[in-house]
Amino acid sequence: MHVLSVSSLKGGVGKTTVTLGLASAAFARGIRTLVVDLDPQSDVSTGLDVQTAGRLNIADVLENPKEKVVRQAITSSGWTKVHPGTMDVLLGSPSAINYDGPHPSVRDVWKLEEALALIEDEYDLVLVDCAPSLNALTRTAWAASDRVAIITEPGLFSVAAADRALRAVEEIRRGLSSRLQPLGIVVNRVRPQSVEHQFRIKEMRDMFGPLVLEPQLPERTSLQQAQGAAKPLHVWPGESAQELAADFDQLLDRVVEAGHIDAPEQGATTAE
Ligand SMILES: Nc1ncnc2c1ncn2[C@@H]1O[C@H](COP(=O)(O)OP(=O)(O)OP(=O)(O)O)[C@@H](O)[C@H]1O
Ligand SMILES: [Mg+2]
Repeated sequence: MHVLSVSSLKGGVGKTTVTLGLASAAFARGIRTLVVDLDPQSDVSTGLDVQTAGRLNIADVLENPKEKVVRQAITSSGWTKVHPGTMDVLLGSPSAINYDGPHPSVRDVWKLEEALALIEDEYDLVLVDCAPSLNALTRTAWAASDRVAIITEPGLFSVAAADRALRAVEEIRRGLSSRLQPLGIVVNRVRPQSVEHQFRIKEMRDMFGPLVLEPQLPERTSLQQAQGAAKPLHVWPGESAQELAADFDQLLDRVVEAGHIDAPEQGATTAE
């Protein structure tokens, strides 16, 4: 089981969008996937079309990471009505904010790792949608992760923001979990015609080299439409959605490679 955190220290740059895009690509490919909603805003749970009634959630798991609690906090995504496959969600909750203090204890930081260890035979890939800070929740996510994808927009402060995030990953790798590594930087909301955006991407390539992942993700309303309808991007109609789906397929290739994930043939589930 490979665990990828999707993070940025800044809000609103596309963490949830990238989590959902990668989840959609993994679902299309038949990879058994669990999405952990570690953001108190719980946007990714919404995007994955979940029923929360009668379920526990991430706050319960962080309080008491026992198998019974973990299983009751996981539910199947409504995406599985579109086609069969394993797409589960460890449900988010506004109460998760109570576990996001600035100085978590060592014990607290390992609670997600403890929870995921109980179910590791059941998934090939775990995607963790993080909150936009470096407080306890993000540290908890990183302690449980093999890789971190850093999300950024191609703006004035993007190099500094990505640099800060990479340094934070390095700090956690040294101090807490030697298995943690950056997957790379995903540049989101790119307008290909924008000279400013192309300049910022070049600036990041000069600074971070191959850590700047290909492809960069364009700004497209089809993404918002698929999210709004709580459907996987890969089944959303239109050329724009399919181009984006192909971009996420390429990003997923990197994840699969980094995690040595034994993925079924591409399109295995959709071809049925
Ligand atoms: N490439 C894109 N094209 C169009 N809209 C986008 C794109 N990426 C993100 N958005 C939109 O921008 C908004 C913020 O994106 P998103 O929720 O993914 O960011 P986030 O980093 O998860 O935010 P937060 O820090 O609040 O969790 C959403 O409405 C999303 O639909
Ligand atoms: Mg989000």
